[in-house]
Amino acid sequence: MAANNLDTAIPLHLRKERTTTPVLSPNFVPPYPSYASLFPTSIEQIVMAILGVQYHSKKISYPTPEIAMLTSFLAGGSDATHPSFWEPASMTDELGCYNIAIIAYWPSFALYQEWREESGFAKWWDGLVAVPEAHGWFLEVLSPTVDRWETINSTMDIKDGGSTMRDGLSEAVKEHGYWGSTRDRLPIAQVDGLHGEKIVNDAKRDEGTTKEKKRVSGKKNLCVIRSGQDWSSTAPDERQLYLESMHPVLIKGMDFLRDHGAEIGCYSCRFMDIIDVETGAGGKKRTFGLAYFDELASLEKWSKYHKTHLDIFGGFLKYAKRLGENMTLKLWHEVLVLEPGQQTFEYVGCHAKTGMLGVI
Ligand code: HEM
Repeated sequence: MAANNLDTAIPLHLRKERTTTPVLSPNFVPPYPSYASLFPTSIEQIVMAILGVQYHSKKISYPTPEIAMLTSFLAGGSDATHPSFWEPASMTDELGCYNIAIIAYWPSFALYQEWREESGFAKWWDGLVAVPEAHGWFLEVLSPTVDRWETINSTMDIKDGGSTMRDGLSEAVKEHGYWGSTRDRLPIAQVDGLHGEKIVNDAKRDEGTTKEKKRVSGKKNLCVIRSGQDWSSTAPDERQLYLESMHPVLIKGMDFLRDHGAEIGCYSCRFMDIIDVETGAGGKKRTFGLAYFDELASLEKWSKYHKTHLDIFGGFLKYAKRLGENMTLKLWHEVLVLEPGQQTFEYVGCHAKTGMLGVI
């Protein structure tokens, strides 16, 4: 397909006269198609909330009483205020603690606030100043305006994460398949270099578990990526290939960001398994990396230059070549670059390496 027949990832109502230089070269044609989610123009701000429980023990069965309580909050209040979509996911962290988080999305901040009040969540959470229990809680709320949000989907049938709220899909877009394409898809990057703050966080990371609630302030242009992998519809041969060739290098990359991220501007990385609510296991065959970076440039550098992402990327090119049109693996991501007031980070009874807790 010729470059001028391709769609543009930034929707019409968010296009601006550029004051920054795009990375895309004019005649570049991506080697394979990818698609951006299009949201109704009525959506001006998206809320992605991470409601988590941290058990200071190994894996426990789902649903735990704490998760049952969170899900009853999600079902509370009037129907109109319920999240558009939510799902539980789990992971064992670097200290061996088992974490279950519900990721929930709302199509406006006002609706999220209404839900907080009506469901009783606000009363419970705001009153929770310390925990006596053997587990902790965390609440991370990311609420970018739509110009600070971008998505890319490797196939047209992916509708995951915040994209569950979309009402359309672009045609194949030109802004992908080269380093720097995330920035070219982000509407705000048309007029903003999106520089962040460099915060040294290591010193605070050995404090142990605090029973009292701690709040971490929002950071200028904090960059968040949720990168999803879905191999639920693969045939046995492709699934085996994915699990043997892609999954291990992906884990290495996620472990690097989690354990050595501070060296390259990554504050936190969680590699999570979507929980099948029917069986309580990670049987959904869907995973995602959720990582927080000091700025978009640090995420770009890691993906373009670091061996761990280059191994993932190189492995994928071989994988895609081998399967050709028969590939049914689905890959998607959403990237958010947030203003300080668009972030809430609150932790109670969690160890110091949890999420943004060490980034004071
Ligand atoms: C870009 C593969 C996981 C971060 C890409 C691209 C591929 C790829 C093929 C180029 C996409 C395009 O523009 O067409 C994969 C595969 C993964 C994976 C196969 C897992 C199986 C991740 C994870 C992260 C990540 C977990 C971060 C937590 C990025 C970023 C870009 C990118 C930020 C865009 C870089 C830019 O705009 O310059 N990846 N990736 N990837 N990947 Fe990954």
